Amino acid sequence: MSIHIGAVPGKIAETVLMPGDPLRAKWAAATFLDELECVNETRGMLGFTGLWKGNPVTIQGSGMGMPSLSIYANELISDFGAKTLIRIGSCGAMQETVGIRDLVIAMTASSISTPSRGVFRELNFAPCADFGLVEKAVAAARHREVKTHVGGIYSADVFYDERPDLNEQMTRHGILAVEMEAAELYTVAARFGVRALAVLTVSDHLLTHEALPSEDRERSFGDMVEIALEAAFG
Ligand code: HPA
Repeated sequence: MSIHIGAVPGKIAETVLMPGDPLRAKWAAATFLDELECVNETRGMLGFTGLWKGNPVTIQGSGMGMPSLSIYANELISDFGAKTLIRIGSCGAMQETVGIRDLVIAMTASSISTPSRGVFRELNFAPCADFGLVEKAVAAARHREVKTHVGGIYSADVFYDERPDLNEQMTRHGILAVEMEAAELYTVAARFGVRALAVLTVSDHLLTHEALPSEDRERSFGDMVEIALEAAFG
């Protein structure tokens, strides 16, 4: 057990998928894993371990925002030996060419700060994904014919942003989409020498103000889970 994860040692797999929403973790585990077991209920941040095509996988909620994800990523790696961590979540598109329902595979994640900011001080660390996972996720997405964009994303500290100029700057610099977790996931993974990736579905559009209809969310989310699993074991 760690401070925030009640699992007994050995009950967390080396490959962990991390949706922000713990109920999405429950849905994904029930839908895609065999022999699943609930391994964490602490603070309602549900985690499940099971088998995908015979491979052990844990799907653990991360909560929203980098401070919450940081807790789970640190403990999954340091206390349970996780070696591959893939965030699966939603994002807001920041380019005209990126549409609702499209998949975004994040090569890099810019931010104004992460919980790791104090470690680097004046240095601008560039959080980036594991290239092998990027390659495999892109191949899996192409195979499924899911419209996919690969590039930089922005990990914001706030959802309700009082500084829209930051989003505008990101758009002008070619950033594909905004979410709130990947930069810290990539930084923590780099610190511990493990693999990380964020695979995201566009749920809303900052330029057109469109949003993914709720009836489509499950199907888009399912594609993303399977692409993440194929990337991890491909
Ligand atoms: N902002 C931040 N995070 C998000 C958004 C957004 O518009 N959409 C989905 N995650």
